[in-house]
Amino acid sequence: MSLDEFAHADVRRRAVLASGIGGAAAAVATSAHSATPMTRADKPAASGAVRDETAPVTQLPVELMINGRTHRLQLDPRTTLLDALREHVQLTGTKKGCDHGQCGACTVMVNDRRINSCLTLAVMHDGDQITTIEGLGRPGNLHPMQAAFVKHDGFQCGYCTPGQICSAVGTLKEIQAGIPSHVSVDITALQKATPDEIRERMSGNICRCGAYANILDAIQEVAGVQS
Ligand code: FES
Ligand code: FES
Repeated sequence: MSLDEFAHADVRRRAVLASGIGGAAAAVATSAHSATPMTRADKPAASGAVRDETAPVTQLPVELMINGRTHRLQLDPRTTLLDALREHVQLTGTKKGCDHGQCGACTVMVNDRRINSCLTLAVMHDGDQITTIEGLGRPGNLHPMQAAFVKHDGFQCGYCTPGQICSAVGTLKEIQAGIPSHVSVDITALQKATPDEIRERMSGNICRCGAYANILDAIQEVAGVQS
């Protein structure tokens, strides 16, 4: 190909490219011009499912046996057990600390096992037996763990205390049942309420006042009485 022929071919190539781009641009412009904006009503029902913010939330019936009393509630299924206890049954002894399963302030007993009530939905516990700090004991008739916390000064501000006490009661039940922990040397042996076992098993209950040494003393005393 001569230099002249090469230059001519290049001009034609650029002309074709320019016309193609222009055509495509025109097609896009036409399409954009003729398109009607899609409204929410135009969207197909299946793919455009938009939640109706004004629709009433379905309430579900749930029956909770709390501290020996039956409570029949109608609850939003998203209600946590902690909020059901505090806001719907007015048992405010159980505390909300983190609401994320990190502090243990919300610990209660469900069917005799300790649980973080902020991490579970109330509707999952239909028919369950729930014990809160109010159900463990009362002034004048304290549970041995409550009495031991008082005797050993196992609290300062008291905010974590209901959860600490429920967790301590659960801890001793787990040890008695032979359930091993992360620090158990022999997981097939009978478990003992050693300071290490108690510290490990209570590690999910945070005390910002730092009453840990006295809490340990209280739990050990009750463990000694029980063993
Ligand atoms: S409030 Fe439930 S663990 Fe903190
Ligand atoms: S006594 Fe205050 S947080 Fe434990």
